[in-house]
Amino acid sequence: MNKTEQLKKQAADYAVELIESNMIIGLGHGSTAIFALRRIAERIHTHELQNIYGIPVSQHVEQEAKKLGIPLTNFEQHPIIDITIDGADEVDPNLNLIKGGGGALLREKIVAQASKRNVIIVDESKLSPSLGTRFFLPIEVIPFGWHSQLRTLTSLGATWELRLQKDGRPFLTDQGNYILDGTFASPPSDVYAIAHVLQNLATVVQHGLFLDLATDVVIASESGIQHKQRS
Ligand code: 5RP
Repeated sequence: MNKTEQLKKQAADYAVELIESNMIIGLGHGSTAIFALRRIAERIHTHELQNIYGIPVSQHVEQEAKKLGIPLTNFEQHPIIDITIDGADEVDPNLNLIKGGGGALLREKIVAQASKRNVIIVDESKLSPSLGTRFFLPIEVIPFGWHSQLRTLTSLGATWELRLQKDGRPFLTDQGNYILDGTFASPPSDVYAIAHVLQNLATVVQHGLFLDLATDVVIASESGIQHKQRS
């Protein structure tokens, strides 16, 4: 395991200690969240955690959770999640986030909005003074008509690229939609205004700005773990 992977695992292991028996857990997507998934499975198999059910944020995580033997549920059975553990692509000092690097942002946001506690696990490379500094902003758009709204998207100060798979075909989300990745010429001064515009565009199903959603951010660095909580 390289240094970054070790840090990701440290953040994940710390966060999984926040889970208690009898909880419904949101299971996040990505190379950091997978460490949490594995640790949750370990704690279930040693009976440290009992009566735990997970709701995965993607089909990929669902498959991984099944392989690891984590019992799963759904929103019909359990509309409220006690705690979600997920990664992020960028974290600002207000604990606002950019997510969607893995293309799972729509389900991630549904799960986050259904969660009493949202614990974000990152290594220190994800920290940024201002969202849009170190990562592009992913948005999920329906395949029909997104070109017609490119002018408005570009007026936000970003250039947008359709996310492609290795074979050159468009990347498809679990919902069969496309992802556009927006690179800002300079970090937006008002991410709430950007979110507002994006929410009003009909082709945009969801955007990767996760504002006021993280309750906790666990940051692993060479000097140890820092646990920040929204006041
Ligand atoms: C997926 C996400 C991930 O949480 C985010 O991309 C972070 O991934 P990683 O831990 O691999 O850096 O939002 O849509």
